[in-house]
Amino acid sequence: MTNFNPAFPNIRLRRTRMNEWSRKLLAENHLRASDLILPIFIQEGTNIKTPIESLPDVYRVTLDILVEQVKEARDFGIRAVSLFPYIEPSLKSPYGDEGLFNENLVCRAIAAIKENVPDIGVIADIALDPYTTHGQDGIIENGKIDNDLTIKQLCKQALVMAQAGCDIVAPSDMMDGRVGAIRKNLERHSFADTIILSYSAKYSSSMYAPFRDAVGSKAQLGKADKSSYQMDCANSIEAMREIELDIAEGADIVMVKPAISYLDIISKASSNFTVPIFAYQVSGEYSMIKAAHERGFIDGDAVMLEQLLAIKRAGARAIFTYAALEVAKKII
Ligand code: PBG
Repeated sequence: MTNFNPAFPNIRLRRTRMNEWSRKLLAENHLRASDLILPIFIQEGTNIKTPIESLPDVYRVTLDILVEQVKEARDFGIRAVSLFPYIEPSLKSPYGDEGLFNENLVCRAIAAIKENVPDIGVIADIALDPYTTHGQDGIIENGKIDNDLTIKQLCKQALVMAQAGCDIVAPSDMMDGRVGAIRKNLERHSFADTIILSYSAKYSSSMYAPFRDAVGSKAQLGKADKSSYQMDCANSIEAMREIELDIAEGADIVMVKPAISYLDIISKASSNFTVPIFAYQVSGEYSMIKAAHERGFIDGDAVMLEQLLAIKRAGARAIFTYAALEVAKKII
């Protein structure tokens, strides 16, 4: 029996930090291209790439360019993309019916990807906000978002997306009971294999602003907000209830969003549940890094890697990030 004293100087944690090789050898978490999901904004037309001012290096693209981008993402090891449409204002309506139309922009985009890049997963967002004249994710009746009426629209939208060939439907609307209703409707129509990725703990965040520019819902929304359905940032126990309910209703994967300001939620969720937890590094989080980099305040590339790794460390299995492709190119 030696009397080893487990304290300084016998213990020196810096020993294993001295060299790059030992730091890498002992790293507890890694960022891989297959951890990253690329969100892509799409628009009508051919051969157009429209810059989004508040989202540096991100473009709204037409379907021909989309296919090229998805091929490139696949070639750099990204396993899934998520589609978000920019809808012409003339196609918007109070009920967002364009979102349910089986030849809408997203359906055609899904078909184009499945035809040209069949080996990548396609995620379709389920929510009405790109399609409504008021920019809300739900239908408004008597001045209020009507939960149950909205669910009916979401069920149809999810079915149309599944029929178009998408692999994952991702309800991002935060209505109560929508996961169960979507699951039931998919089963009824023999889409038992469609994965549901629920935005379960989605907070009412001011960090979605650049996204709303990108899909063109900002003007419609005006000064209104989404706090009657998206979560209050004061709460974390409630996030666990949201997740628990979505799992019970049939969600395969649940998401926490935003990510960086909500690492505690990701961490809690991943230790409380066995269902895979995804996280969304949202538009504002991405743009803050880009803007600070442009002004020379930080090294944006390094901060991006640090934050994405922090999101994984917190417990996220995969991360939605607008930087997915640029990061994948760096870490391959
Ligand atoms: C729409 C939706 C939003 C985001 C993803 N799906 C915006 C919102 O809820 O207003 C935000 C993504 C981002 O900011 O990057 N239901």
